[in-house]
Amino acid sequence: MSNEKLLLGQVLEIDGDPFADAWQDVVRIDTGGGVLVSDGVIRAVGDGAALRQAHPRAEVIDHGDHLICPGFVDAHAHYPQTAIIASWGKRLIDWLNTYTFPEEMRFSDPAYAREVAERHLALTLAHGTTTVCSYATIHPESVTAYFEAAAVENRRVIAGKTCMDRNAPPGLCDTPQSAYDDSKALLERWHGRGRAEYAITPRFSPTSTPAQLEALGSLWAEHPDCLMQTHLSEQTDEIAWVKELFPQARDYLDTYETHGLLGARGVYGHAIHLEPREIDRLRETGAALVHCPTSNTFIGSGLMDVARLAARGISLGLATDTGGGSSFSMLRTMAAAYEIGQLRGAALHAAQLMWLATAGSARSLHLSDRVGRLAPGLEADLCVLDLASTPAIGQRAARAETVWEALFATIMMGDDRAVASVWVAGDRRL
Ligand code: GUN
Ligand code: ZN
Repeated sequence: MSNEKLLLGQVLEIDGDPFADAWQDVVRIDTGGGVLVSDGVIRAVGDGAALRQAHPRAEVIDHGDHLICPGFVDAHAHYPQTAIIASWGKRLIDWLNTYTFPEEMRFSDPAYAREVAERHLALTLAHGTTTVCSYATIHPESVTAYFEAAAVENRRVIAGKTCMDRNAPPGLCDTPQSAYDDSKALLERWHGRGRAEYAITPRFSPTSTPAQLEALGSLWAEHPDCLMQTHLSEQTDEIAWVKELFPQARDYLDTYETHGLLGARGVYGHAIHLEPREIDRLRETGAALVHCPTSNTFIGSGLMDVARLAARGISLGLATDTGGGSSFSMLRTMAAAYEIGQLRGAALHAAQLMWLATAGSARSLHLSDRVGRLAPGLEADLCVLDLASTPAIGQRAARAETVWEALFATIMMGDDRAVASVWVAGDRRL
């Protein structure tokens, strides 16, 4: 009995980077496409009718004129902040002290960590996100809770213990040695286990002493196949604080660089207010930046210049940054990226937005050979979008002259109601 499944519909095909090349040359939508899946892997992508003829025993799932896309890849999230999403007011540092740190304190309780981990994974799935790269809290149990919950669901996740040894409440501080030891033990247990990967995770320079940054830099040098994730240049007052805390540093990035925390597998969230030297070094090292547009407007951080950074050849991903971000939806996140682009003078095309939310994010996480595109050999993580999910979107889509025009309406106005189905490693979950 064949376990092949053939999904029919409109299919989003990505062959390159629509910031590096004309989007028309590297991203296309096959209006009569098909995706053949078996044993959790994409086996073929192409003309739907031809695939049907070539694979007569495959079970056919006809999605009509829905759009079959790669599952969304959320390249920067804080799953422990799920319950405090959309907390009013405050700028970054006040917001952390008022809402985030008290909530993160609760994750010393493994039962609470498990509950929120499961909730975050369920919410992201319902919004079409199949891969998440998340921060945990300082508690090792909070990392275990997320990896265990993800393993039950066979979800591809990256996560790490958030390390902080200063400027946080005593209950949320570790030490250079315990951060090193706990991160190492978690990494050895989880990195590469099933669909899990470990990311070494200093929260950001203000909450780590130089000694802690140094210790985590050593750990990364010992495990160079891991990602290292942190925050960079999110708010101007944060940057001023970093200058005070690290008077010798040339700039914010330098606080990481001098402690062994800059490299090709470095993933830096926000990165809004960058100095020319920082941009040069990020480009030279091949590090990735993650755009968090709903967070950057919600917390009032600023407008990342995505088009200019992409033109400089910097690897870019897209992310919700929940709970600083105001939505679990990568559609809402793409809409915010479009609006910020407009405020910076660049109207991003739907193809570029979809690329950022899928292949771009996957590349920023060094997962391009696993997820982020519909291509033979990649894992069968898929999201199927209804391009007329509400009356308002439907009436706009009815007027569209091209499928791109219809998709853009869903990007700008859509949410979880647009997610018609989700497939994780070849299993239909929604
Ligand atoms: N900088 C350091 N920690 C955080 C966080 O949890 N959220 C955001 N948005 N920025 C941060
Ligand atoms: Zn963050």
